[in-house]
Amino acid sequence: MPLLAGTMIVPMIQFDPGRHLPVRVLAIAGSLRRRSFNAALIRAAAEMAPACLEMDVYEELSTMPHYNEDVRSAGEPPPVLRLKQRVERADAVLFATPEYNYGVPGALKDAIDWISRPPDRTPLLGKPASVIGASSGPQGSVRAQLALRAILLETGSLVMGKPEVLVNLAYQRFDGDLRLVDESARGQLAQHLRALVSWARLHGAPSLLVEVNAAKPARAADSTPP
Ligand SMILES: Cc1cc2nc3c(=O)[nH]c(=O)nc-3n(C[C@H](O)[C@H](O)[C@H](O)COP(=O)(O)O)c2cc1C
Repeated sequence: MPLLAGTMIVPMIQFDPGRHLPVRVLAIAGSLRRRSFNAALIRAAAEMAPACLEMDVYEELSTMPHYNEDVRSAGEPPPVLRLKQRVERADAVLFATPEYNYGVPGALKDAIDWISRPPDRTPLLGKPASVIGASSGPQGSVRAQLALRAILLETGSLVMGKPEVLVNLAYQRFDGDLRLVDESARGQLAQHLRALVSWARLHGAPSLLVEVNAAKPARAADSTPP
């Protein structure tokens, strides 16, 4: 959050515990598939998000190149810079991952690898994050979710453990228009979103801070420095 000259930052909890700014969540689905269940899960999350959660849905995963250290040394490609900026601006990142052979799809892993470098300056460092997922199998992508949690731990992200969202047999949970219609899955998702707001606030998301542009009169005629 850019700070203006003369702006004072006050922890919200001390200033006005009743009025939080919304938590900004960047939501990333790890699938390139046109009719992706995980992208649909993110859309459902955006629709169901409580008023205190502002969702920024990332839809550029297909533009992300494979990770290549030589390319990085020559300069990070624009899609990488754009994603880094969006992670920086977010108070938390929500990942919805498919499961590919018990693991995280390569496109999502590539994107995380790009933004994880250099490790001391990755925008994921200290960033609250959480993982949900849908798969057509009976386990609801649980193994990929565990693998993704491990990856995020290495980046220094603060990964929320529970409540989990495991949307199994996904073709039964979404309708033909890819709307999440399963009540139990919707309940899991709603709980997860509420917990993510608390998690982001607990871990010092910038939204916990309030800019108080100290209600002073305009300084136009005032020659004293601010
Ligand atoms: C290469 C590949 C490997 C897969 N491996 C698994 C798996 O290990 N476990 C599982 O539950 N589903 C697996 N699936 C099925 C996916 O869960 C299913 O395709 C899901 O819809 C993918 O997510 P999406 O709809 O968001 O693209 C696999 C699919 C592909 C294409």
